[in-house]
Amino acid sequence: MISPARVRPTFPDVRVRLFGANDAVALRDGFASGSISDLTRFMFPRSVAETVERLRQSKETTRFAIVVGGKFVGICTLRVPLFSGKELTIGIFDEAYHGRGIGTHVIRKVCAYGFKKLKLHRIELGVYPNNTRAIRCYTRCGFQREALLRKLLYNDGEYRDIIWMSLLRNEWASYDRHW
Ligand SMILES: CC(C)(COP(=O)(O)OP(=O)(O)OC[C@H]1O[C@@H](n2cnc3c(N)ncnc32)[C@H](O)[C@@H]1OP(=O)(O)O)[C@@H](O)C(=O)NCCC(=O)NCCS
Repeated sequence: MISPARVRPTFPDVRVRLFGANDAVALRDGFASGSISDLTRFMFPRSVAETVERLRQSKETTRFAIVVGGKFVGICTLRVPLFSGKELTIGIFDEAYHGRGIGTHVIRKVCAYGFKKLKLHRIELGVYPNNTRAIRCYTRCGFQREALLRKLLYNDGEYRDIIWMSLLRNEWASYDRHW
């Protein structure tokens, strides 16, 4: 298990709150920038109207805004899983906010919400094998690799493998004590 020693983001004032309709423009702009399109499975850009409509329709997804110093910098979701529990997704759009402990902090908060409030037994996620930063971050949050899903997704001109990871309720309970 990776040490959970460094748990504080190096930015002050990092907040995780429920996503609201007012965040739709910032969300659309984030995806439209293309900054994370090769690392995620979101097929954007979409118009603001489409973004709002999509948010309205997918009622089984809980969305969280990642806010730093009052600025919307990314989104984290718990959505319908591929296998079981809920699937966690996360994207911080601006590179200036990467590698500063924000993702770890957000995932920790969102997992606590999932296990405590939603009473989940499992949170799962998929990540491209070359996304070493994300894999380190997930591992530090207690996620374990469970499979390589071969050529699962077509993105950026090729079929790509996905590493599948999960965190179970009992693992989170023992892991969370250390935070
Ligand atoms: C993935 C993401 C959410 C992680 O959040 P983050 O705030 O950048 O991550 P953290 O700073 O909390 O942790 C990153 C870890 O990676 C390490 N790291 C930083 N830069 C790295 C690099 N270039 N390569 C490998 N590891 C790196 C950090 O040292 C840290 O590990 P450690 O503290 O155990 O040493 C964020 O980078 C992001 O949104 N990226 C773009 C979109 C994306 O990849 N989404 C996930 C799709 S599955």
